[in-house]
Amino acid sequence: MSNIVVVGSYVTDLTARTPHMPKPGETVLGGPFRMGPGGKGGNQAVAAARQGAEVTMVTKIGNDLFGENAMNNFTNEGINTSYIVVDEEESTGAALITVDTSSENMIVVSLGACGKITKEEVTRSLPEFEKADIILVQLETSIEAVEETIRIANELNKPVILNPAPYQEISDELLSKVTYLTPNETEAGLLTGIEVTDVSSAREAAKKLTNKGVDVVIITLGKQGCLVYERNGDSQGEQIEGFPVKSVDTTGAGDAFNGAFATFISEGKSLKESARLANMVGALSVTKEGTAPAMPYRKDLETAVQ
Ligand code: RIB
Repeated sequence: MSNIVVVGSYVTDLTARTPHMPKPGETVLGGPFRMGPGGKGGNQAVAAARQGAEVTMVTKIGNDLFGENAMNNFTNEGINTSYIVVDEEESTGAALITVDTSSENMIVVSLGACGKITKEEVTRSLPEFEKADIILVQLETSIEAVEETIRIANELNKPVILNPAPYQEISDELLSKVTYLTPNETEAGLLTGIEVTDVSSAREAAKKLTNKGVDVVIITLGKQGCLVYERNGDSQGEQIEGFPVKSVDTTGAGDAFNGAFATFISEGKSLKESARLANMVGALSVTKEGTAPAMPYRKDLETAVQ
């Protein structure tokens, strides 16, 4: 069983279905509303746990009802909550999500407590980093927390995945310390200045990122799967095909991919096989509504690969 530390966000997702995305100033009569656990960090932790990894979540929540729900949800998923900090001042974050009839989404996330994770709050989880096979972090928290996570991973000589979502400016020095970088097309474009519109521009962006010192770049391409580029290795911009599914809600598909990829690569599967299976987990996640609750289990993946 692989052991993973996830450092990142937990927020409550407040999702409304809508016949179309509102224009500025427009009020739209929406469809069903749902509330549930979310945040890129929390979603990735659940995705990994449901694929069979032993997961520790490092985040910060408020002393409120949403925070209580967070603890209950993580505990129910079998995730270690010992390093979740409860902030007495800040509230638990929330994301306002709209999903339209073509299952695309728009999100505004108010990070609350998890946007203020300090360096010290990361450092105190060192005992879990020491046990971990791989570390997983996103940009949906303070840069201070991201930097400390990557610093500890490097110091312990552990592989670290940075999912640069949502985009925030980061230094080339930080990028050079990342083992696996997993942007989507938009984030790859913002990180490189190359507009990523197809496989060929994704390849160019991935190459540029490996030139900055990242070991492996995986650009997720939605329905088209992903593109894998190694700084030193055989994969020099290969596309790993996606899986066609009937999509209901695409929110959290990238999180499903990242949590699953962390699990498979730390189980010792090859890079390409890990990316292929993670594509499948991402695809299965969009067949259900919601984010963390929509993450498939290992048995769902096993059924799908047959
Ligand atoms: O990646 C999807 C997630 O991004 C949602 O769960 C929402 O919380 C936002 O943070």
